[in-house]
Amino acid sequence: MSSQTADVLGSIRVRPLHAAPASPGLGAEITGVDLRAIDDTDFATIHRAWVDHQVLLFRGQSLSDPDLAAFSRRFGDLDHAPIQENGQTIASFMPEIYVVSNVIENGVAIGSLGYGEAVWHTDMSYLRSPPKASMLYALEIPPTGGDTSFVDMYEAFEALPPSLRDRALGLRVKHDGTYNSGGYVRQGVTPTDDPRDAPGTMHPLVCTHPDSGRRMLYLGRRRMAWLEGFGLAESEALLDEIWAHATRKQFVWTHEWRVGDLVLWDNRCTMHRRDPFDEKTRRVMHRTQVKGAAPPAA
Ligand code: OGA
Ligand code: MN
Repeated sequence: MSSQTADVLGSIRVRPLHAAPASPGLGAEITGVDLRAIDDTDFATIHRAWVDHQVLLFRGQSLSDPDLAAFSRRFGDLDHAPIQENGQTIASFMPEIYVVSNVIENGVAIGSLGYGEAVWHTDMSYLRSPPKASMLYALEIPPTGGDTSFVDMYEAFEALPPSLRDRALGLRVKHDGTYNSGGYVRQGVTPTDDPRDAPGTMHPLVCTHPDSGRRMLYLGRRRMAWLEGFGLAESEALLDEIWAHATRKQFVWTHEWRVGDLVLWDNRCTMHRRDPFDEKTRRVMHRTQVKGAAPPAA
């Protein structure tokens, strides 16, 4: 049976998108499914694929905010969205929905992260218990730009030079809570130049994923990071080396969005970033985040 026929018949299929040499590989597209109407068998397939492939793409969906929240809740309770950059909370949206958008209405930004680059990061890892999954649903997409990339933190760990790998095991890194990925200062935070004084949470630099049992690098974000117990210069130098390695192209998969795409990622064993786009165009995305626990040290 061709995949086309399978789609028409509605049987769910998993198509890997990025074949890594030694693992199932980052990224898979799930076809033949309407996320408004999945049964437990479909969910089991989706969950398995998510553990195996870390990032899942579902195209051609038509989801309201309650539909998006209902599918998200299959993975667990939802975290409330972080506070928007301008401190605004929009009453008409559910508190679980984080609006990512550059659109300004009546002088007020309807969402976060603007139109610039969103640098590599893990969502909300400045918290003690960061979300285990996030999903982003595309409502409006600019003609070009705004692609979102994901990096495989299992592969990044496994490919570390042995000396660096040994050094990384046992270290802890501060995940900064000053800046969001768009470079905006979070509400209520007074920025400092010294990452040691910044708000945030220490997490092990190498963690074991609770579902897959695989070891991964857990970095959070580069700006204002600090390796516990290190002098600032020494911490910066080692972090630069690890980050340069972890974000190499060979570990990255990039998604070009279409309206109706839903991308679900494992927020522990991947990081993501977004390309900038033309500020005169519109991009509107709705995100949910599923409650999780900090991944344990390897
Ligand atoms: C997010 C995020 C990037 C994007 O929603 O967590 O980082 O592509 N979004 O909008
Ligand atoms: Mn993010």
